[in-house]
Amino acid sequence: MKCTSALGLALLGVADAFPNILAQLEQNASKHTIEQSKLTKRVAFDAALQFIESTGKVFGMAVDMSSILAVYGAVFDGDLLEWSIGGPDSLVSLLGLLGEPQGISGSHNKYEGDGSPTRGDLYHGNDYLLQMSQFQALYDLGKADDIYDIQLLTDYRATRFQEGINNNPYFFNGPFSGVIAQGAAWLFVYRFMANKSAEYPEGRLNGEVLKSFYAITGDDGDFTYTPGHERIPDNWYTRNALDQYTIPYLTMDNVEMILQHIEFASIGGNTGTTNSFVGLDIENLTSGVYSADTLTQGNNAICLGMELTIQATPDILSGLFLDTNAAADKIGSAFNKVTKSLGCPQLNAVGKGQFAQFPGYTKDYSGYTPPGSSLL
Ligand SMILES: *[C@@H]1O[C@H](CO)[C@@H](O)[C@H](O)[C@H]1NC(C)=O
Ligand SMILES: *[C@@H]1O[C@H](CO)[C@@H](O)[C@H](O)[C@H]1NC(C)=O
Ligand SMILES: *[C@@H]1O[C@H](CO)[C@@H](O)[C@H](O)[C@H]1NC(C)=O
Repeated sequence: MKCTSALGLALLGVADAFPNILAQLEQNASKHTIEQSKLTKRVAFDAALQFIESTGKVFGMAVDMSSILAVYGAVFDGDLLEWSIGGPDSLVSLLGLLGEPQGISGSHNKYEGDGSPTRGDLYHGNDYLLQMSQFQALYDLGKADDIYDIQLLTDYRATRFQEGINNNPYFFNGPFSGVIAQGAAWLFVYRFMANKSAEYPEGRLNGEVLKSFYAITGDDGDFTYTPGHERIPDNWYTRNALDQYTIPYLTMDNVEMILQHIEFASIGGNTGTTNSFVGLDIENLTSGVYSADTLTQGNNAICLGMELTIQATPDILSGLFLDTNAAADKIGSAFNKVTKSLGCPQLNAVGKGQFAQFPGYTKDYSGYTPPGSSLL
């Protein structure tokens, strides 16, 4: 099965915040470089570079973050595997994230993302199109003051999380998809979509801007969603170039959310029926490196999410690629750089047996049908 990198992004939960826009940037970048370099091994790599450049310019996404997304996206696309054979070394070190492939031990995991702002859960509803009921609920929360800020998003994230537990027998809060990507999907809404100005240097996100990014037209209560028509609004201002959104910044935001709602960091899921959420025994899972008590300290929750992702990647990718090791190596080396920069405690062994009780973890993607070109 060939996955587009936009699917990779969708899996990350990031596409929720940028329905189609990141995908467009990415597609444009690929087209451009394919014309330029005639399908050499550098194509995917150049596309990744352009993706990084354009997300920086358009959204003020810092290179550390866009590189991770580019690697993740490109790995899911399969194209970076080409690049991994022939990547130009000077550019590799320029990016700073794409080091030599490192070995990763195998595991038994599948990847999914639940609890996103406007998309349904993976095995429960529609996980790639905006769900109007969710958009309307989000819109309603901020319409009195016409302000959508991080506190509002934190509150609604908690509501969506609980809805998953209440309604989705397969609800799963995975280490990366849940703890990290879910947080990013929510935070990106404000951090990237908000309109920056001298008056509101951190940005002000109002209903009209929100509607534009999510391809919503019409009046409150009578909204129309037109997939593929997501737009950056006219007269909209991005982040200051000196204030890009970096991984440490995202981590700080995400930790703030977790401190308000500890459940966001609870890796686990429903066990096949609604309201059956079981959180993993973190101490057992990590052979004592982390515990429930230390999870809320510093960057620990984020670190654990990243590290478990590295451990779980081969299985996340199995079924998508013939050569999962090469793909996993790419993700592993990119993520390892991040965990190092966050000063994460080293995780050596993971007791993965506990994951078997979650159908949201063991189910595979065979049922997924790419929704068509407008959602690439
Ligand atoms: C992608 O390219 C098309 C055609 O050149 C252009 O209209 C569109 O604005 C580009 N998308 C982005 C997000 O830059
Ligand atoms: C963004 O903020 C500026 C400055 O306040 C304002 O002129 C502009 O209309 C805003 N843009 C949007 C899309 O709201
Ligand atoms: C985790 O729990 C399982 C089942 O109780 C046990 O067999 C295993 O030894 C534990 N692992 C660690 C590292 O504590």
